Amino acid sequence: MSGPYLEMDLGVVRARYAELREALPEARVFYAVKANPEPAVLRALAEAGSGFDVASPGEIALLDGLAGIPVGCQTGRPPETGLAGVPAGRQTGRPTHAGFAGERCYANPVRKPAEVAAAAAAGVRLFVTDSAEDLRVLAANAPGAAVLVRIAVDEAGSATPFGGKFGCAEEEAVRLLQDAARHGLDPAGVGFHVGSQQTRPAAWADAIAGAARVAGRAGMPIRLLDVGGGFPVPYREPVPGIAEYAEVIRDAVRRHFPGRAPELAVEPGRLLVAEAGTLHAEVVRVSRRHDGRRWVYLDIGRYGGLAETEGEAIGYRLATPHDGGPVGPAVLAGPTCDGDDMLYREVPLPLALRAGDPVRLLAAGAYTASYASVGFNGLPPLPVRCTEPVAAR
Ligand SMILES: Cc1ncc(COP(=O)(O)O)c(C=O)c1O
Repeated sequence: MSGPYLEMDLGVVRARYAELREALPEARVFYAVKANPEPAVLRALAEAGSGFDVASPGEIALLDGLAGIPVGCQTGRPPETGLAGVPAGRQTGRPTHAGFAGERCYANPVRKPAEVAAAAAAGVRLFVTDSAEDLRVLAANAPGAAVLVRIAVDEAGSATPFGGKFGCAEEEAVRLLQDAARHGLDPAGVGFHVGSQQTRPAAWADAIAGAARVAGRAGMPIRLLDVGGGFPVPYREPVPGIAEYAEVIRDAVRRHFPGRAPELAVEPGRLLVAEAGTLHAEVVRVSRRHDGRRWVYLDIGRYGGLAETEGEAIGYRLATPHDGGPVGPAVLAGPTCDGDDMLYREVPLPLALRAGDPVRLLAAGAYTASYASVGFNGLPPLPVRCTEPVAAR
């Protein structure tokens, strides 16, 4: 009996990172660990020069425990020793990306004092904040740390927006920058996130204009401008390439920071790992049901890692052995006994599809394994298998 698994091609991860570096060579890169925290993925990115956006002490510990993890590892392996050659939490120095490999930015502003203290003890020196409450927690538990104030921005165009959960109004951002200095913190800059799978490059231009207004009103030059993640990947529809986003970002920085431009940072998640992942699943059952519709049940669903199918936000491309043959509409559902375990209400699927057929979900490397439940209905977390391109083995 074999279950679904996610196959990650590390060659594709490296290629996407190289494309990003080529498009935005001047930016510090903090890979958003939450998108895919597989140790071999993290190690490949660290070796390529990436820093990391972390959301909890758990992710920091994961990074600290990476060395010696062989390529082709499985999720759930306990961390071993520290990541060789990657200095912990280096925050200052030359503004070249190579000098910041392994640098960590704690970008989740919802955290407990003990979590901030743990991060500071682990050497993290850069924190994103968006409230006076969090600023006080930072001042008390990470004294002297550098802070980026996250502003709320227009997320229209994002397939999975944050819905107002993060970021503050511009006037509040001004106050937070000024208060950071008063609290003995280092007000390093401003950041934002335009929402994930953001297909509208202009979203960055508008947000950069907002960041510039904040910097101007705060009366202090900002050193770092964190333009977040959000860069989209082609699921069922084509999207603009990273070079186009880079051009929009660079142009907006030129226009809105005409004097001394701040250093840029990006926090990509999806962009670096989605297309590297293929989710291997199997059809459990095909049945024509009481509603007259054809239902196709897979052995993976909402709780096995396909959380981003909620509201059909992300439409994965599906590949089956019957592709090219006649298709008809089907309801696609997961295997668990939960009514919400539905993927798509109507998706075209081959009419020849039968129980036992393999189904691949393409570009599924982001926000899948990290979202899988630990055992709903007794199903195990989604295993991850990493592969290297043949030439690199
Ligand atoms: C603070 C922060 N930065 C970066 C990311 C990565 O976003 P994306 O995968 O859209 O690039 C996320 C995603 O949730 C986030 O919360």
